[in-house]
Amino acid sequence: MTQALATIPGASVEQYEAPLFIAWQINAECNLNCFHCCEEAGMAFPDQMSKAQMLDLCAQIVKAQIPYVALSGGEPLICPHFWDVLEYLRKNNVSVKIETNGEFIDEKVARRLGALTLRSVQISMDGATAKSHEALRERGNWQKVIRACKLLRDTSANIEIVFVPTRFNIHEVGEAVDLAASLQAHGFYTGKLMRIGRAAQNWQKLCPSDDQYREFFAVLEQKKALYLGRMKVFNYPYDVIEELRYRLEAPAASLLVLPNGKVKLIGPLPFICGDVTVMPLTQVWRNYKKAWKDKRVTEFASRVLKNPALVAEANRWREL
Ligand SMILES: C[S@@+](CC[C@H](N)C(=O)[O-])C[C@H]1O[C@@H](n2cnc3c(N)ncnc32)[C@H](O)[C@@H]1O
Repeated sequence: MTQALATIPGASVEQYEAPLFIAWQINAECNLNCFHCCEEAGMAFPDQMSKAQMLDLCAQIVKAQIPYVALSGGEPLICPHFWDVLEYLRKNNVSVKIETNGEFIDEKVARRLGALTLRSVQISMDGATAKSHEALRERGNWQKVIRACKLLRDTSANIEIVFVPTRFNIHEVGEAVDLAASLQAHGFYTGKLMRIGRAAQNWQKLCPSDDQYREFFAVLEQKKALYLGRMKVFNYPYDVIEELRYRLEAPAASLLVLPNGKVKLIGPLPFICGDVTVMPLTQVWRNYKKAWKDKRVTEFASRVLKNPALVAEANRWREL
């Protein structure tokens, strides 16, 4: 969910011969069943990319000199080719962030990740207590998350905590920031809940009220000041609709690769602009740039802007 970051103010996507950033969901399989999961993760895709296809994509990323890749999922640490992909990218000096629920990080895994000098290890912590975290992250184990942070801290890895606010946990945000600081995280990242996937299905139960959001952002401002110079406290200011409105004008220089190699235009839209298993990445990139001007995309997007509930269709892909 970091596609938004690939932006250089004032630059147009047309100027780039390759993306600046790849958000790669390397699998759909997950050990958890999060109530708010925007990916609807759980079962592996039947057409999941093979190891050879994944390494071929890595080679193309290196050749195109794409500087930064985020590996997400599903839960990326249970992807059988996770280490092959990660080590290939790092050996070739691609900066990598991994996005994980932290449940598979034991001493050995922490040491191995630490040795790869990652840009960051992003760990999901959706509560300052086991109760709220585990209420959202069905089958999740909050203690394992805390343990993973401690083990990574001992390797000096750059830990980023992500907290997704819902009615279950929003009141704990202040304590969660304090906890992240006590675990020596480098950053605490949050923003509004996205109405995609299971979050869309469970929207009424999950979506915080305006008053709750007001209080949440006020607490974050206080914590930002409190931890200035020690830990970055960042709240992404846009919700998914504001982000989409902006992207229609200024698409990000990034691609969102799904576990089967299909490439999505952006999280909240259902459009697929290519497939890295059947065409070169350079072709996908050309398609991506063209797709933003495609009438099917602009018309659907303007309907979404008028009726945000349509974002719920984001995971029902439409090939362009
Ligand atoms: C889909 S998860 C995949 C990686 C890993 N399994 C995990 O749980 O962190 C990637 C990130 O998206 C966040 N996320 C999931 N659903 C979301 C939603 N509806 N709105 C905002 N962020 C969400 C998660 O909290 C996590 O930080």
